[in-house]
Amino acid sequence: MSEELFKNVISHAKEYGFVFPSSEIYDGLAAVYDYGQNGVELKNNIREYWWKSMVQLHDNIVGLDASIFMAPKVWKASGHVDGFSDPMIDNKDSKKRYRADVLIEDYQEKYRVKNLKEINKAKKRFGDDFDEAQFIATNPNIKRNNQKIEDIDARLKEGLESGELQKVKELIDELGIACPVSGSKNWTEVRQFNLMYSTQMSATDGESQIYLRPETAQGIFVNYLNVQKTGRMKLPFGIAQTGKAFRNEIVARQFIMRMKEFEQMEMQFFVQPGTEMKWYEYWKEHRLKWHKNLGTNPEKYRYHDHVKLAHYANAAVDIEYDFPFGFKEVEGIHSRTDFDLQQHEEFSGKKQRYFDNETNENIIPYVVETSIGLDRMFLVLMSNSLQEEDLGEGKTRTVLKLPAALAPFQCAILPVVKKDGLPELAHEIFKDLKLDFNCYYEEKDSIGKRYRRQDAIGTPICITVDHESLEDSEVTIRFRDSMEQRRVKIEELSSIISKEVSMKALLKGLV
Ligand code: GAP
Repeated sequence: MSEELFKNVISHAKEYGFVFPSSEIYDGLAAVYDYGQNGVELKNNIREYWWKSMVQLHDNIVGLDASIFMAPKVWKASGHVDGFSDPMIDNKDSKKRYRADVLIEDYQEKYRVKNLKEINKAKKRFGDDFDEAQFIATNPNIKRNNQKIEDIDARLKEGLESGELQKVKELIDELGIACPVSGSKNWTEVRQFNLMYSTQMSATDGESQIYLRPETAQGIFVNYLNVQKTGRMKLPFGIAQTGKAFRNEIVARQFIMRMKEFEQMEMQFFVQPGTEMKWYEYWKEHRLKWHKNLGTNPEKYRYHDHVKLAHYANAAVDIEYDFPFGFKEVEGIHSRTDFDLQQHEEFSGKKQRYFDNETNENIIPYVVETSIGLDRMFLVLMSNSLQEEDLGEGKTRTVLKLPAALAPFQCAILPVVKKDGLPELAHEIFKDLKLDFNCYYEEKDSIGKRYRRQDAIGTPICITVDHESLEDSEVTIRFRDSMEQRRVKIEELSSIISKEVSMKALLKGLV
């Protein structure tokens, strides 16, 4: 069922102008995608929701737009040149390459699914009297499964952190993990692969190798004092940025989930040393609230603490979403300590210190980061919103129930027929509403077909102009989710749409 949903999401995204394979006429480019006319609107709206919630709603967070190319030493200092790699393993029969830790995590997921089934069975059996926490703590099957998950976690962590990758290979062998393609257990050793792309930049004294940034965060670190001084920022304060990042993902899979070129929305929050765990907890909670505020089923989200901490972090958690292919990371919240700023101070030879007026001390702040993939968030919304609804009498409709404020178009204006002065009135309405909303104008095909097309791209409101509209200055508005229709005055349209679909209405849930 889930696999089917995922296939539907991919084909719907293509058919309705959301996502196309890159360079498709040349047979595409692996793990690279283009956003179509509706996809780009949805993507812009997700970015706007993130930006406004982080920058506009916080008086101590400001924005930045740093370049993709950076001095190569940045990546030496940040540890990416030496440490930004994934443990990979190849299956000798299928010739497919996998991330060794992901193979093991997928294996653990089977135990989590078993536990969920036990819990759901018990919920049904005990009804209102069911105490989930007690059940989890006492049920022998669940306890056994959790112990297995913990044991595997511990061994994976040991192998990854010590760098003794043969231990990870031993774990794969012992667990009997088979290649999902060939079904064979004929594996190579586990090896590290660096994920950064490099290119050449011409300089007067020859060519030098530079990198395409694998995260946007470093642009924030190297500008933190510029922003702090010119913006007169005081700790704690944040710098937010959205932009492209590039990673040579050898195992690219699952559509826009893991791409070689993708977009991140990151915020670095600079704090007094010693207060970082308080802020880590704050951002962990605040970011989950941002996700749930979109009206997604809360049970589809969970936290997942990192087993292997990145080279810069002292605490890290993922916010995971239950995609059609299982729970996977959408966002990471990392306590990055003062690692990056210390490193930049050392490698650049320039002091990266913040002068604290109150204590008269120069300090290197600690940093808590929130980092979300825009494309993954796009996939969350597409998979959560795409529904096939049974309308009775053998009829169905495909509807994309996107959060109204994020839909590519907030309303569609549809004259019932293409004559008798209806297009003229509809155009007048369009001319007025387009100043506030992204509006779709369409006069071709039957009204039923046009409603279906708007449902499929997620337009929350359709406005139908008919012959009576010429007499009484009223139109019919139809709501995507309930399919309810009602007559309203043309002059009321703007305020009705605002209430239903505005970004302001969405942001209010966060303040
Ligand atoms: N600055 C921290 C950082 O980059 P990360 O966990 O490697 O942390 C952050 O990446 C987010 O970026 C992830 O949670 C994910 O949503 C997104 N992301 C990472 N790699 C990606 C890829 N290859 N394709 C799409 N999104 C990706």
